[in-house]
Parts: sequence; C-alpha cells; structure tokens
Amino acid sequence: MKCEYLKWCLLCLTALVVVSSGRKMKIVEEPNTFGLNNQFAAQSDRLQAKISPSPVSGPPHLHRLAGKCYNYIEATYKYVFCPFHNVTQREQTFRWNAYSGILGIWHEWEIQNNTFTGMWMREGDSCGNKNRQTKVLLVCGSSSKLSSVSEPQTCVYSLTFETPLVCHSHSLLVYPVLSEKLQKEWDEIEQARYEELITDQGYNKLLKELFEEAGLLRRSQQQKSEQSTTSLTHHSLDQCTQDFDKQKAEIKRLRSILTQHNISCDTTADRTQDQGNPDPSPLQEQHLRGDTGFIADLN
Ligand SMILES: *[C@@H]1O[C@H](CO)[C@@H](O)[C@H](O)[C@H]1NC(C)=O
Ligand SMILES: *[C@@H]1O[C@H](CO)[C@@H](O)[C@H](O)[C@H]1NC(C)=O
Ligand SMILES: *[C@@H]1O[C@H](CO)[C@@H](O)[C@H](O)[C@H]1NC(C)=O
Repeated sequence: MKCEYLKWCLLCLTALVVVSSGRKMKIVEEPNTFGLNNQFAAQSDRLQAKISPSPVSGPPHLHRLAGKCYNYIEATYKYVFCPFHNVTQREQTFRWNAYSGILGIWHEWEIQNNTFTGMWMREGDSCGNKNRQTKVLLVCGSSSKLSSVSEPQTCVYSLTFETPLVCHSHSLLVYPVLSEKLQKEWDEIEQARYEELITDQGYNKLLKELFEEAGLLRRSQQQKSEQSTTSLTHHSLDQCTQDFDKQKAEIKRLRSILTQHNISCDTTADRTQDQGNPDPSPLQEQHLRGDTGFIADLN
C-alpha cells in the first residue's frame, strides 16, 4: 500500500485518493509533506542508540533545551538535533533504502579557554571502524535554530546551533557552573600555575580532571573515539611526552646500576655524538623542555 501511495505523491497530485486493497480510502490533503513524516517517524523509532546519553550538565539556563528537538534541512537530508540527547540524519527520498541514522549521542562539553564552546555528540552509527560523531557549536542568535551543517572530516559532523540563550558574554563561562569545592580547587590550580609549580601541560591536565569530576567531560573510556577527532594530535603528543619521560627514568635507573658495577655505559652512538658536541645532554634536555612548553602553548 505504501508503494502505491508514494508513487501517487511523486506524480505531484495535490489531492488524491488512495485505495488500498480496493477497500479502505484515505484522503491526502497536504501533498507537500509527501507522507514523509509518518514514514520517517517510523524509521526513527527503529534507530538503535549504542549508548545512553550523558546526564544534562553545563550552564543551568541551557538545561531547558533538554527534551526539545531542532530540525535543519539541507539538500536531501534532514538533521535533527535534540540537545542533551542526540543528533540524527534522515535522507529525504523515496528510495526504499534511504539512509537514516544516528550522528551522535550526547556525550560531553567542548571547553576552550575555560568557556563552553560546543556539545559533543558521540558514538553514533558506525562508519568504517569508527563511530559517527558531531560537534554542535553554540552561537548567539535571535531564535533557537540550527543554522548550518558540515562534515569537516569523514563521519565527523559539525552543526551550528543559534540561540539567544548564549548571547550574554558570561552565559558560557565554566567557572560559575562549578560547585564551591571545585571552584576552590580551580583557584588552587591557578595559584600553582602562577607560582610555576606546574607546567602549562600539568595545568591543562588538572583542569581536565576537574571538568571530569564536575561531569562536564566524560572520563575517557572511549579513547578510540576521542582519538579519531581533533584531539588526536594532543593525545599522541601528550602520550609521546609521557613515554619519553618514562624511558628517560628507565635509562637513568639502568645507568646507575651499570655505574654501581663499574661498567661503562657509553654506547657507540653516544661517543659519535660526543665528538661533534662537547656537552650534548644539557642541550638536549633544554631542547626538549622547550618543545613541551611549545605544545602546551598550542593548546
Ligand atoms: C533522540 O532524542 C529525542 C528527544 O529526546 C528522543 O525522543 C528520541 O527517541 C531520540 N532518538 C534516539 C534514536 O535516541
Ligand atoms: C579567553 O577568555 C577571556 C575571557 O573570557 C578573553 O578575554 C580572552 O580573549 C580569551 N582568549 C582566547 C585566546 O580566546
Ligand atoms: C669499582 O671501581 C672502584 C675504583 O675504580 C673500586 O674501588 C670498586 O671496588 C669497584 N667496584 C666494583 C663493584 O667492582
């Protein structure tokens, strides 16, 4: 019956009568909807989320968006953003196998410069060996609506959500959202950074942990999916620095064992370097410290 019904629609009849099984009669008054609403409602019910959304968090004045949904139609796709819940995409065609899928489930905030800048919706339908994910940017606008969509990387989507709720300059600050206890911890972290007791990298790490404790970021169990995003560079450089520090400590430990046993630990490689450079180790360390600072500055 549906087939017959859709065929009729395609013929652009403004009003028609579909006789199904030769008995039941149905009158279609609005051909523009093409009966898609019903069809896609049925499809959306069939979408299976891999995970459940994170709890509602962040600026309290945005919590009222929970439970609402916003549509955006581009070309043959209809995108639906349900803040603190999900993002879905539905292909608007009559093909029997039209694509309909989940582009992400509410996961965590994107925080930059101590400001909420976007909502990460992750663990959507699979796409090769990873899962689709979407970053929803929050920008000031006169009414709440989706204003653009793009796919900056394969299966990583970017939506722009306009809303008057974020127009005030303080509306997206992280600090006021935190409990008194966490604000105090943050103050201490700032102090430690000011006194140069911690590096920029250490500062960023402590803040990230604080945001996780506040429920604004999800603790990274799904490293894999995170690595597939923009944080890939940060993760691997971070990882690289950590590994380097571990290796350095291990070399130091082994060297001291060798020294204790009166065994020379100069390797051929070291000697070659020694010839060209009278004092390589302080220089090397200085260079590496410089690099670490540079990485932290980039973040
Ligand atoms: C998406 O979120 C809306 C609004 O909360 C909900 O009604 C719908 O069932 C969700 N869909 C999926 C596939 O999770
Ligand atoms: C970070 O935020 C502060 C205050 O919110 C602002 O003054 C500053 O320009 C921002 N810096 C960057 C790099 O965005
Ligand atoms: C290492 O060498 C020093 C002097 O060269 C010697 O006094 C010491 O006994 C040696 N230790 C071992 C463990 O061979």
